[in-house]
Amino acid sequence: MSQSQLSTPHVLGIKYLTPEDLHLIFETAREFKEVINRPIKKVPSLRDVTVANLFFENSTRTRISFELAEKRLSADVVNFSAASSSVKKGETLLDTVNNILSMKVDMIVMRHPAQGAPLFLSKRIPANIINAGDGTHEHPTQALLDAFSMQEALNDNLRGRNIAIFGDILHSRVAMSNIFCLRKLGANVRLCGPPTLIPKHIGKLGVEVSFDVRETLEWCDVANVLRIQLERQDIRYFPTLREYHRSFGINKQLLDSLDSEVVIMHPGPINRGVEITSDVADSQQSIILEQVENGVAIRMAVLYLLSTRRV
Ligand code: CP
Repeated sequence: MSQSQLSTPHVLGIKYLTPEDLHLIFETAREFKEVINRPIKKVPSLRDVTVANLFFENSTRTRISFELAEKRLSADVVNFSAASSSVKKGETLLDTVNNILSMKVDMIVMRHPAQGAPLFLSKRIPANIINAGDGTHEHPTQALLDAFSMQEALNDNLRGRNIAIFGDILHSRVAMSNIFCLRKLGANVRLCGPPTLIPKHIGKLGVEVSFDVRETLEWCDVANVLRIQLERQDIRYFPTLREYHRSFGINKQLLDSLDSEVVIMHPGPINRGVEITSDVADSQQSIILEQVENGVAIRMAVLYLLSTRRV
């Protein structure tokens, strides 16, 4: 019998989810995708639930996607941005969250620059927590929407399919969550980028490493292209952005010269002309905006499933 509940009351990282959890989230997201494509996009599933979106770091896609997902599920929603909060006056993370919870908040969605911040909170507060990105650690709902979008694009469950992740793997929480998610789904994963931006012992996670963009593009069914995270780079990992683009950027000429058509993905925000050119990002092969669309259904699924698994 298939499972009807997640194995955990929090979504802190893909690392902590089972393959059965992943399949349950995808199955639920498929139902919610159908809901949000109806003329009336709303269901009452979270009518008695209050969710606080706590963003201690900038976000466009994830913050709006969570807020829309919550509203489509009829939850009460409060938004917190660190820049305009009493965090600026020295209040601790735990004090901030405990004060918000005392106003009868049930669930926390949190993005934080510190790795492990959601895990730290999960051991100390009586609310479900969803990690919306913690430092360079994990971004689980991004990996879920990425895998869901790959399944749709390939019309397949990803077992045995070849998925390549290009770019700044070293600083990427999206890469880490994608690796855990894709390996749990049985996909073959290859990382490709400059040696300086690929962690030395990453092969222990069951992935291959290549420094050859063309050969990796020839190998893969899907290319998930990641942003160069200059804001997290305290030293130089390559000489210039121009040189990075020449050696590791993906352009239309390169794609058109391949034997088969590769599905192009990017979690955003895009640095156009650095890791990917506009004619690739905006091409027929790109499913970048489908990823964003699927993010709402995935986040509705996660919120709904956690609401039935209260702390
Ligand atoms: N993909 C992603 O996390 O984008 P945002 O930083 O805009 O949320």
